[in-house]
Amino acid sequence: MSKPPVIISGIQPTGNLHLGNYLGAIKRWVRMQDEGDCFFFLADLHAVTVYNDPAELRANIRAMAAALIAAGVDPARATLFRQAQVPAHAELCWLLNGTARIGWLNRMTQFKEKSGKNREGASIGLYAYPVLQAADVLLYQATRVPVGEDQKQHLELARDIAAKFNTDYGVALFALPEPIIGGPAARVMSLRDGQAKMSKSDPSDQSRINLTDDADAVAAKIRKAKTDPEPLPDDPALLDGRPEARNLIGIYAALADETPAAVLAKFAGQGFGTFKPALAELTVETLRPIKDMLDRLAADPGELDRLLGLGAERAREVAAPTLAKAYEALGL
Ligand code: TYM
Repeated sequence: MSKPPVIISGIQPTGNLHLGNYLGAIKRWVRMQDEGDCFFFLADLHAVTVYNDPAELRANIRAMAAALIAAGVDPARATLFRQAQVPAHAELCWLLNGTARIGWLNRMTQFKEKSGKNREGASIGLYAYPVLQAADVLLYQATRVPVGEDQKQHLELARDIAAKFNTDYGVALFALPEPIIGGPAARVMSLRDGQAKMSKSDPSDQSRINLTDDADAVAAKIRKAKTDPEPLPDDPALLDGRPEARNLIGIYAALADETPAAVLAKFAGQGFGTFKPALAELTVETLRPIKDMLDRLAADPGELDRLLGLGAERAREVAAPTLAKAYEALGL
């Protein structure tokens, strides 16, 4: 019998789980739990590439673990863990730093966005971030990586690093990972600006819907979301040049598990005065059970720590042989 595919993905435990993370990535994680051996982790080592208040980070780690479990990640079916509890991630990252090229990292758009005009003042960690991400994936011989569109470039880099390492050292050590991206929510945009992605780091909380927002907050954010005065068309192609309308239709489609065309068939000819309340209701109804469970789980930090501890134990076991082979390939 052939071995089931290894699936891996991570999320930074900074801020809240928002609708972009949920629809762009986590919903697919949950679905993929029956398709292979799944590893899902909190990228807490990635989080410290920028300054975080330590007490806040500690609280965010538990809150994100609770959010993932509430969203459907099942620690009995998937290995759920924190990166910082599996030292092999940091070790393999260092080994891969010898293979990753400065020229490759210079092309990473996320570093350019995050460092902005203050490149010289950005941390080394922020720059080397994608090498750690490559280590995350290669350590488990993962071939499938469910992510949002914004992570595609990082995974292409992981493939380049894996291929170069294998060639340089004459080994068939690392499997080449494939990003799994797609659907109407591969790139959920800000509610305030259809050209910017919905993000934890956007200073305006009005730009995103958090899984912890209550019904009133969700309704208010959707009511105030930027739109245009035109009625909705009957064909998704006619949303070209209307990024805000496209985004809201995409969110509705992803929440309802429908295609954008099916959503437009329901709302064609109507304005946002009709569509927005329908979207708000669907969002609140979809998030309600997740939020309820999140609140229950967050009340028991000891249990969250226990579950994360068990996950880390398994992750350490699975990661060990690949790390050992990487040392050996290098002559260490
Ligand atoms: P992070 O924490 O920014 O986001 C977690 C996941 O959510 C997706 N996502 C979105 N999808 C659609 N629309 C959006 N607006 C949106 N915002 C976020 C992201 O694509 C991601 O899938 N570097 C990663 C974490 C990471 C990782 C890894 C992922 C570390 N190591 C290894 C995969 C494999 C990150 O910062 O994701």
